[in-house]
Amino acid sequence: MSNAIEPEDIPVGVVGLGLMGCSITTCLLMAGHPVVAVAPVPGDLDHALTRIQGHLAKSREEGLTPHPPEWHLQRLVITEAYAALASARLVVECTLEDAEVKRSVYAKVEAVIADDALLTSNTSAIPISILQGLTRRPERFFGLHWAEPSHTTRFLEVICGEGSDVALGESLYDLSWHWGKEPTLVRKDIRGFITNRLMYAMYREACHLVEGGYATVEDVDRACRNNAGYWMTLVGVFRWMDLTGVAAYHTVMQELLPTLSNATEVPKLIDDIVKAGGRGVSNAHGFHTYTKEEAECWEETFRAFSYEIRRLALKYPADVVKRQLEAREKGEDA
Ligand SMILES: NC(=O)c1ccc[n+]([C@@H]2O[C@H](COP(=O)([O-])OP(=O)(O)OC[C@H]3O[C@@H](n4cnc5c(N)ncnc54)[C@H](O)[C@@H]3O)[C@@H](O)[C@H]2O)c1
Repeated sequence: MSNAIEPEDIPVGVVGLGLMGCSITTCLLMAGHPVVAVAPVPGDLDHALTRIQGHLAKSREEGLTPHPPEWHLQRLVITEAYAALASARLVVECTLEDAEVKRSVYAKVEAVIADDALLTSNTSAIPISILQGLTRRPERFFGLHWAEPSHTTRFLEVICGEGSDVALGESLYDLSWHWGKEPTLVRKDIRGFITNRLMYAMYREACHLVEGGYATVEDVDRACRNNAGYWMTLVGVFRWMDLTGVAAYHTVMQELLPTLSNATEVPKLIDDIVKAGGRGVSNAHGFHTYTKEEAECWEETFRAFSYEIRRLALKYPADVVKRQLEAREKGEDA
C-alpha cells in the first residue's frame, strides 16, 4: 500500500444510488474522497441522501468515523447530471445487473470524464472483458466488486478484464486499502470472480441437500453458521485446510467429490420461490418463512452484526501472525 495516496485529493464518482450505491458512497466519503453521486433514475433522489445520512450517523455511533454526518456531507454532491463527473479520477458504476443499462451509462460517463480517469463496475457476475468491450477505453476499465454494506465490510475484489492495463489495476488496488478494505486483485478475468464462484458452488450444494430430502433449510443454515461461520473471519479455505490437516482433505476429496452436485440448471427450490414473487427478507418471502415484523427484525439484526463482525475482523487482519511475531521480537504485546 502506498502512503503517498491522499483520498482528499482524488475526486470520485458513483453512478446508481440503490442499495449498494448508497453504501459505496458512504465508504468513499468516510475515506475522505470528494464524491459526486449520480442518480440515473429520478427515484434514487427520494431516498439516497437519507440513506447515506443514516449510514454516516450509525458509522459515527459505531466508531468508524470521528466526524458527524454533516462533516462528510460537505464533500458530497447528489445530482442527476452526468456532467458533474467531469473532474472524477475514478467512477464506480453501480446500476442494475443488465449489460444494456450499463452500456448506456458508460457512454454518458465517458462523454465527460478525462481519458486517464478510471471507470469501474460493481457487477456481481458479468465478465469484465464483456463490460469493457462496451466502453471507449477498455484499458482503464475494471471490476470493483463490493459487499453490502460497503461501508462496513472488508471485502473488495479489483478485477482486470482481458483488455485492462494491469498496472492501473494495481494502482486501484493500492487506493482501495485507504477505504478500510482488505482487497484482492483478480489479475485474469473469470465469470463470478473469486467469491461468487466459491459461494455459488455452496448455494448449489445447499439446494441439492434440501431438494434431496437430506436436511431442511433450517438445518443447512445452522450447520453452515456453526461450521464455516466460526472460522471464516479468521482464515480462508486454504489456511483452514492447513490448520486442520491437509492429508485428511485429500482422502475425503477422493470419495466425496464425485457425489457433489454438478447440476447446471437453476435449482427448483429457488426457481419456485422467485417465480412466486419471493425476494427474501425484503418482502418477507424467501427460503424461510417470515412475518413482516420478523423480516424487519432480520434486517436490523444483520445491520448490527455487520458492525460487530467488522470489529472482530479488524482484530484479525490477514497479516495477524506476522504482526504478532514482530511484536514478540520487540518484546511487546501484539
Ligand atoms: N446487492 C448486493 O448485495 C450486491 C453485491 C455485489 C454487487 N451488486 C451489484 O451492484 C449493482 C447494483 O445492485 P444494487 O443491489 O445496488 O441494486 P438496486 O436495485 O438497489 O439499485 C439499482 C440501481 O440501478 C439504477 N438503475 C435502475 N434502472 C436504471 C436504468 N434504466 N438506467 C440506469 N440506471 C438504472 C438506479 O440507480 C437503481 O437505484 C448490480 O450490478 C448488482 O449485481 C450487488
